[in-house]
Amino acid sequence: MDKDVLTRVAKQMVSPGKGIIAADESSGTSKKRFDAVGIAPTEENRRRYREIIITADGLEEYISGIILFDETIRQKASDGRPFPQVLADKGILTGIKVDAGLKDLASHPGEKITEGLDGLRERLVEYKALGATFAKWRAVITIGNNIPTDACIHANANAMARYAALCQEVAIVPIVEPEVLIDGDHSIKACYEATVRTQKKLFEELQEQDVFIPGVILKASMVIAGKEAPKQSTPEEVARETIRALRTSLPKELAGVVFLSGGQGDEQATENLNEMNKIGAGLPWPLSFSYSRAIQNPVLKIWAADPEHNAAKAVQALLFRSKMNALATKGEYKSEMEKERPY
Ligand code: G3H
Repeated sequence: MDKDVLTRVAKQMVSPGKGIIAADESSGTSKKRFDAVGIAPTEENRRRYREIIITADGLEEYISGIILFDETIRQKASDGRPFPQVLADKGILTGIKVDAGLKDLASHPGEKITEGLDGLRERLVEYKALGATFAKWRAVITIGNNIPTDACIHANANAMARYAALCQEVAIVPIVEPEVLIDGDHSIKACYEATVRTQKKLFEELQEQDVFIPGVILKASMVIAGKEAPKQSTPEEVARETIRALRTSLPKELAGVVFLSGGQGDEQATENLNEMNKIGAGLPWPLSFSYSRAIQNPVLKIWAADPEHNAAKAVQALLFRSKMNALATKGEYKSEMEKERPY
């Protein structure tokens, strides 16, 4: 394990004023997003759309890394350069989603287990050769009647720790992503409890597998009431409860925390991150973002409206949302700034 490389890359991923774009939707998820805006789910359309994000001029000012899917890491820009090369030329790190998705957890109705450990060692060697310097593995935890169970939390934490150890063997920084889903009508308190149970167990397992914690990034869900909850959470509540959970669960050596947007509105995700950074001075970890939908929503919509002519407008939207989130990593975002948005 090359601890120097792991430490350096992990720090670069959460360098001040920068965050990560998750552009690693599987072909299935990408189809859902394309269907919603009337784009045919072909390999070439996925390539064209991702090219807009990957080649956007100036993105490196706000973005430290982009997570790609297996298909995308092998694709090329129109000028012939492989996508990881385009990113490297701008100083943006290439990440790769390596989990194989969710399956029902046996004997536990309503709960999921993430698969993908078989053959992972060999796949990581290949991804490294293709230019990946970090990886992502997502597990989901569902809040409901008598769930999450310890069985689900433990099984997912163990798989994530084994994934993280395999990544570090080849000096790839693992992002561990235990997403507590926002779906449902649960309270913010229920989310807090599920989040703390999940994160605590994850770090116990990481330690047990001798994972090098300064070479790990946690991709966390925010502590927030469920989407259907009668009482929705304010940014102040989200920031306070999320930070309280992190303080309770995480070792201080962890390199950083990046948040997923998880179905929050674009501005809501920016505002919540900003609030955390306003009150989070003195925390041992940088708090940044690794959003997919909260950055890409307007980009895809604009591009899809006229793929032949709208690439430049889509890039403007991408740069704008990236900038707003970059400001939120410093607590410097203000909602009035949305008046300037170019879409
Ligand atoms: O794994 C989930 C994605 O990387 C984050 O996506 O920001 O749309 O929740 P999201």
